[in-house]
Amino acid sequence: MKHLDLVQKYLANLAVLNVKWHNIHWNVVGRQFLRVHTYTEELYDQLFEDYDAVAELLKMKEVTPLSTMKDYLANATVSEVAPKDFGHDDSLKLVKDDLVTMRALATDIRNSADDAGDFEVVAMFEDYVAFYSKHIWFVSSMLK
Ligand SMILES: [Fe+2]
Repeated sequence: MKHLDLVQKYLANLAVLNVKWHNIHWNVVGRQFLRVHTYTEELYDQLFEDYDAVAELLKMKEVTPLSTMKDYLANATVSEVAPKDFGHDDSLKLVKDDLVTMRALATDIRNSADDAGDFEVVAMFEDYVAFYSKHIWFVSSMLK
């Protein structure tokens, strides 16, 4: 089913973002260090919970979830970033781009699942879309 292929990409993105957002969490610098450091932790904690939930959703649908770093890197639609000192705005812009990418993918999954009559996936991904919308608002406000 097409929407489950998209869910595999989504899972790959969660795995890559777990590493990428830790990178920002560790390497952010500046007066707003603690705010961004704490905020990225809140984000990757949620994402790590979702990572397990999404893989288990695939198991329930009798699909083997992608389970290796090699497969995640090959299938992800988000890209990693080389570690350096990240300023406040740079950190939040990186996070915002990823949130926007994830909201678009989650929306696609929600809608293709709906076309396929897979209401379990619809229910789960509606919550994910709402999560990204909230955090895109947060990050956009912090960047103003
Ligand atoms: Fe930490």
